[in-house]
Amino acid sequence: MTSQTNLKISIFLMIIFFIAGIVCYAAFPSPESGDQPMRLMFQNKAGKVLFEHTGHMDEYGLDCIDCHHNLEDDEIYNCSECHEDTGDEDMPSRSDGFHMQCKGCHEDSGAGPVECNSCHAP
Ligand code: HEC
Ligand code: HEC
Ligand code: HEC
Ligand code: HEC
Repeated sequence: MTSQTNLKISIFLMIIFFIAGIVCYAAFPSPESGDQPMRLMFQNKAGKVLFEHTGHMDEYGLDCIDCHHNLEDDEIYNCSECHEDTGDEDMPSRSDGFHMQCKGCHEDSGAGPVECNSCHAP
């Protein structure tokens, strides 16, 4: 083979790999790449709660699945899709779920607010 042919083969292979890369990237989007809120403000009768959504990942190194624990089909649902206003022993209510998840992790990691008024502001 001439070096000219070798060069053509390498360029051809580079193009193939490049296209294959794009196809794989587009075909298997990870949940990490989905649209996600920067921060959320929850209004409720104990006072509003400000939650730094993106900050909890960028600064505290958490993954989607740490909170969106139902990620079987890579879909992110609102917690209330499953956790209704009143729960039972198998299924915590929405606000019990939040308290267990938010406060639970703050307690376990020894960081983050656990007092009522360090989350709830008037
Ligand atoms: C520290 C916990 C936590 C982490 C980590 C987290 N989220 Fe969330 N996310 C929440 C909470 C809580 C809500 C509000 C859900 C509600 O109001 O029912 C939410 C809401 C969302 C929503 C809006 C859903 C809707 O229907 O309103 C999207 C989209 C989302 N998150 C995507 C992501 C993605 C993608 C990741 C990973 C890159 C991620 N989240 C990581 C806690 C988290
Ligand atoms: C698609 C349905 C679904 C969604 C959406 C969902 N959950 Fe759950 N969750 C469940 C089910 C079912 C259980 C009870 C069985 C279990 O522990 O998995 C549960 C249990 C829990 C528990 C108790 C876990 C334990 O170890 O006892 C907490 C806390 C919780 N969910 C918080 C949340 C929060 C916060 C959100 C939103 C960020 C959320 N869940 C979204 C279905 C869901
Ligand atoms: C899986 C672990 C985890 C979960 C779940 C979690 N947090 Fe946190 N949170 C942390 C850590 C770690 C910090 C950092 C504390 C520090 O460094 O001082 C923190 C800090 C905070 C802070 C203070 C600093 C800031 O970023 O604003 C608030 C407020 C807060 N969390 C609210 C929430 C709320 C509300 C939820 C539930 C919707 C939640 N967190 C769920 C781990 C978690
Ligand atoms: C780590 C943050 C955090 C701490 C600490 C916390 N909460 Fe909450 N609380 C929340 C979040 C998030 C919600 C859910 C808001 C929503 O669903 O809109 C909530 C919801 C509530 C609700 C509304 C329930 C309903 O059915 O509307 C009440 C009442 C409440 N909290 C009281 C308290 C009390 C009392 C304490 C202290 C013992 C406390 N919270 C500690 C974050 C916190």
